[in-house]
Amino acid sequence: MPQRRVALITGGNSGVGFGIAQRLIEDPATHDVTVVLACRSAHRFKAARNALLSIRPQATVELLSLDTSDTQAVLKAAEQFMARFETLDVLFCNAGMLPAESINYVQAAFYFLTNTRGFFSTTVAINQTQGLVTPEGMGTVFATNLFGHYLLIHALRPALLKAAKARSEAYSRVVWTGSCLGSGKASMTHWVKEDYQHVQGPNPYESSKFLVDVASQIINKKFGGDGIVSYTTEPGVSASNIYASVNNLLVRIVYAITTLLLRLLFVATMTITPYNGAISEVYAATAPVAALDTRYKYLSRCAPLGTPFVDREKLCLDPALVRDIQQKLDALVARYSNP
Ligand SMILES: NC(=O)c1ccc[n+]([C@@H]2O[C@H](COP(=O)([O-])OP(=O)(O)OC[C@H]3O[C@@H](n4cnc5c(N)ncnc54)[C@H](OP(=O)(O)O)[C@@H]3O)[C@@H](O)[C@H]2O)c1
Repeated sequence: MPQRRVALITGGNSGVGFGIAQRLIEDPATHDVTVVLACRSAHRFKAARNALLSIRPQATVELLSLDTSDTQAVLKAAEQFMARFETLDVLFCNAGMLPAESINYVQAAFYFLTNTRGFFSTTVAINQTQGLVTPEGMGTVFATNLFGHYLLIHALRPALLKAAKARSEAYSRVVWTGSCLGSGKASMTHWVKEDYQHVQGPNPYESSKFLVDVASQIINKKFGGDGIVSYTTEPGVSASNIYASVNNLLVRIVYAITTLLLRLLFVATMTITPYNGAISEVYAATAPVAALDTRYKYLSRCAPLGTPFVDREKLCLDPALVRDIQQKLDALVARYSNP
């Protein structure tokens, strides 16, 4: 008798990750799923769990300690997960960081006036910290947003395979939270082959989010035949803790007013709340596989009066580049799985 379905959400204690958990426990189709929040702070987990239980007291919400920037912590978390749960039905690769150091107000004002619609789809006004590396020597943003998840998928593969075998649908799923900042042609302006972890450049966040889309394709290539299917999504623009380091009162007020005005002016990327932002992630996790297409990215969007909906856009990734990146990522998996 297979156990209850299990969803693991990295970065589930706040923002979009919390929105994913909330949507899962609210929907009668999924509210009996065991929701495991993979967090690096037990304190923040408790607060999130209490908030979720206040929405649905019967929900099952558990903690898995995880720091995605630390390969050995990732491997240990996977081991602990598999000791506690037989199967993993959906892994949400959602945790992420943006190393925002300061705001360039002049650039912000100029860009806002010349490209108001596109303003929030870029970090042009944010100076990101360059040169961040983990104690293991990996680019911190790359490790946190991308590689920790790529390694986690490999380490949790037995549980994902068991779920695929146990369910009538014959699939388990990986759902990535990407970004419009990493999508399409724009992404290639930020990703640098010679510095693929983007340690030296000014856009480590965009670079890591481009790699999220690539990694999703790689997972389908590697494990799709075994029933593990991967989708990439993006939450639109929603107010979360991701800009916390530069989010002073002035920024919060300007952000709240302008995102709302833009949404009223039919800029559908303005999801504004992480709950709205989570709609595409949950859609990719719950819609029938036959209705989804791994060649597309699923997008959370909002109508002017705030009704969220899911849109999609075709991924345009160069197969040769995907192969090249796969070699690099797989070499890292081999290296860090056998330290
Ligand atoms: N908000 C947006 O407009 C937007 C747009 C596009 C994409 N995204 C993506 O959405 C995802 C969620 O971000 P958010 O906007 O919801 O921001 P958020 O509220 O800051 O959530 C980020 C989550 O990731 C966790 N996290 C960060 N570093 C981690 C690490 N090393 N190990 C484990 N967990 C870690 C955070 O945990 P702590 O609480 O411990 O810090 C937090 O739970 C990210 O991948 C982000 O890139 C957001």
